[in-house]
Amino acid sequence: MPLRLARAEAADIPQLVDLYFNTFKSPIVLRVKPNVPPVREWYKKSLENDIEKPYTRLYKVVEGQAESAQVSDEIIAFAKWSSPHTEPQSGKPAQWPEDGDVALFKEAVGKATEKKKNIMGEKEHWYLGVLATLPKHQRRGAGSLLMTEFCKEVDEAGQWSYVEASPHGRPTYQRFGFETRDTFSVMIDAEPYTDCCMVREPQINSQEKQ
Ligand SMILES: CC(C)(COP(=O)(O)OP(=O)(O)OC[C@H]1O[C@@H](n2cnc3c(N)ncnc32)[C@H](O)[C@@H]1OP(=O)(O)O)[C@@H](O)C(=O)NCCC(=O)NCCS
Repeated sequence: MPLRLARAEAADIPQLVDLYFNTFKSPIVLRVKPNVPPVREWYKKSLENDIEKPYTRLYKVVEGQAESAQVSDEIIAFAKWSSPHTEPQSGKPAQWPEDGDVALFKEAVGKATEKKKNIMGEKEHWYLGVLATLPKHQRRGAGSLLMTEFCKEVDEAGQWSYVEASPHGRPTYQRFGFETRDTFSVMIDAEPYTDCCMVREPQINSQEKQ
């Protein structure tokens, strides 16, 4: 069955929540976002909020031809990214998934934010927030379809991009031109868990090269 890429819609969010919790099983995600109803609800609300933002894009990969596509089709992968923007000051405190390990979540977000600031400074950049393919559908090209669309949008704008990569995600990002610039770690059950801070430089497009 061929794979098809499309923009995700609000009606897709329940499936995206399932996909997220069925895919992300790293030690840090299991600790900070355990798969329990209140955390699932927290994640659902965060996606509902994201899909309304003009600078955030959510894409899905489904199986099948465009003509036969239904909202009920199985979504096998999705991604979320943001184009450069200034984060609006809502005045509201950040919402954390209280049923997870909030202290660890804050520590990881704090380290990630500091590294990103050091690496990117004031450079305008795209931020790749989520890339996920259901385990049983991995290695079929769904992640690459999403990355190809991401790179197309970034390259049309001729801008930088940034991602915090899990060990599982790093080879895919490398294949699409991201380079590791730094890492950060948190301790989980006395074991270090490390993410990579990866940057993709603006690409010179083929027309400019000629
Ligand atoms: C990272 C992730 C999104 C990749 O998704 P994917 O759909 O498996 O990606 P692709 O199928 O496009 O590529 C994966 C591999 O399969 C290979 N592949 C792609 N199409 C293929 C096909 N038809 N047949 C065989 N192999 C194929 C790719 O070349 C790639 O190989 P490589 O790892 O040696 O470079 C997925 O592994 C995932 O969701 N992991 C868990 C969540 C996670 O860690 N996400 C990243 C967060 S930072």
